[in-house]
Amino acid sequence: MSSDRIIGIDLGTTNSCVAIMEVGKPVIIENFEGARTTPSVVAFTRAGERLVGQVGKRQAVTNPARTIQSIKREMGTNYRVTIDGASHSPEQISAMILQKLKADTEAYLGEKISRAVITVPAYFNDSQRQATRDAGQIAGLDVLRIINEPTASALAYGLNRLDEHATVLIFDLGGGTFDVSILEITDGVFEVKATSGNNRLGGDDFDQSIIDWMVSEFNASTGIDLSDDLMAIQRLKETAEKTKIELSTAMSSEIHLPFLTADDGGPKHLETVLSRTKFNELTAHLVEATLDPLRQALDDAGLHNDKIDHIILVGGSTRIPAVQDTIRRYFGKEPSKSVNPDEAVALGAAIQASILAGDVQDVLLLDVIPLSLGIETAGGLFTRVIERNTTIPTSGTMPFTTTEDGQTSVEVHVLQGEREIAAHNKSLAKFHLAGIPAAPRGVPKIEVTFDIDADGIVHCSARDYGSGIKHSVTIQRSTGLSPEEVEVFQKEAAEFADADKVLREQITNRVHAEALCAEAERTVQKYGERVEKSFVDKVMRALDLVKEALASDNPDEIKQLSAGLDVSLLDLGRAIHSGNRSVQPKKKTVEDSQPIELGESGQQAKGSNKETANFD
Ligand SMILES: Nc1ncnc2c1ncn2[C@@H]1O[C@H](COP(=O)(O)OP(=O)(O)OP(=O)(O)O)[C@@H](O)[C@H]1O
Ligand SMILES: [Mg+2]
Repeated sequence: MSSDRIIGIDLGTTNSCVAIMEVGKPVIIENFEGARTTPSVVAFTRAGERLVGQVGKRQAVTNPARTIQSIKREMGTNYRVTIDGASHSPEQISAMILQKLKADTEAYLGEKISRAVITVPAYFNDSQRQATRDAGQIAGLDVLRIINEPTASALAYGLNRLDEHATVLIFDLGGGTFDVSILEITDGVFEVKATSGNNRLGGDDFDQSIIDWMVSEFNASTGIDLSDDLMAIQRLKETAEKTKIELSTAMSSEIHLPFLTADDGGPKHLETVLSRTKFNELTAHLVEATLDPLRQALDDAGLHNDKIDHIILVGGSTRIPAVQDTIRRYFGKEPSKSVNPDEAVALGAAIQASILAGDVQDVLLLDVIPLSLGIETAGGLFTRVIERNTTIPTSGTMPFTTTEDGQTSVEVHVLQGEREIAAHNKSLAKFHLAGIPAAPRGVPKIEVTFDIDADGIVHCSARDYGSGIKHSVTIQRSTGLSPEEVEVFQKEAAEFADADKVLREQITNRVHAEALCAEAERTVQKYGERVEKSFVDKVMRALDLVKEALASDNPDEIKQLSAGLDVSLLDLGRAIHSGNRSVQPKKKTVEDSQPIELGESGQQAKGSNKETANFD
């Protein structure tokens, strides 16, 4: 049964998160593995399987060339990932992540989901927003609204404080992007005053600084350059992130990377220590890079530092002490700790979903466009039609004219950005308006109209006013997918969803079988001596068979044989119980029989419990 519920999705560079409203409160949906966030990682195995989330992340070191991370950084560009000869757009890869989130949510709720609100960095331009929308559509989701991440966080922060009057600044430094937004919250009205940011600044860059440092340390001690060694770099990447996270609490972190590579002299290891001081030195330019957008947002909002009542930190990278110190110094006060930096965005998206559904009525959201919109005019200049930080939805019209006598067609080049030279801004689309009656230069009046919807997505049209002939044009974007491509990919993705279900079941069975083996070994070791040998033998035989099936990775056998092991283990349990009443057989619980995969946040996996998973 399809549900009318709308989910909120934070499609992050590093981690994604889903939330839904439950009796007036947004709650996070745990994924299949039982974690509250899902790594935004997609990997392809040699057998052509697709691994999304934690399973994909876990095998990145051994399969670096087929593992895709941080795809969000490429949204809205013509970047393509080619694996086994198949080319994938960033929209398609993001759609694979969304499909997993959708499937996990459906399993959790036991109902089909078809509608979502998806968040984007406030500083995303039109192409990046459109690409996110397309990704949702490919994943089979009707994207009711694209909402800015910091605005979503502000909603999560402000929902319980609707009668407060406050100016808040959201500082969101995630894995790949940095956003700062200033909002005024008054009686349930959330009005964005200004927003700024950098779509290419985040935790990934802090990791990269550590990687570069490790590469040069290794080079200095061994003379070997690791830069082109994919597998070594992937190991460095993983270690870099762990080291960085450790340095948020510790003053130094030890790095042990045995067998990174080898030369004639034998294997080479990297053993070193990174202090927080050195880390701060390596990444000072990144922390510094947050200040310009911060200043700009304050300037655009016409506010001084001391007019900000609360500074809200969002995004995993705001846990970096140097980042917090910088904010403290800049504002002369402590940032607020009242939202969960990993979950606020998804919670806000769920609140927005509820507003759209009409379930939350006392909240009004007024967001803005992050970057100015305009067209290229004579001499390659950029002429703004709509200024940045204008409240959306909005529209604007500006008259233009011809530059040559007898000119019968003009090219309209739509751009977004803040630079005065058109070529330095982001090109969104180009189209021709033809059929203008010949006239001296400067006489025809051509009106260009921009309509920006509540998603911040731009629609543009032009018409030749003077002649009375109207030309409305649907723009073809310079980057991204055509509507036809989106449709084709959507069909492909839907087909893959079925294959994914099979794969998910296989993975679940495998995980279940591995846990059962461990339990069997534990039980035999602990109680084996106290019961008749035949029970133990039966378990050991069944155990060997399951292990063989696991080794040969035969899904059908794994399933069947673990059922056999389950039965013999129960028999053994009964024998232990009846044979010796002083020894309490260990009660078989869900937690015992299922392996516990630790999620990123260290939570216990709940999803490996087959009973709670819904494959429909
Ligand atoms: N304790 C910590 N100290 C430092 N960095 C951390 C810590 N915990 C997480 N991070 C970093 O935070 C980043 C992930 O943050 P988050 O999940 O907010 O990003 P995202 O939402 O996926 O990205 P974005 O919002 O940029 O699209 C990663 O780079 C991760 O290494
Ligand atoms: Mg984020």
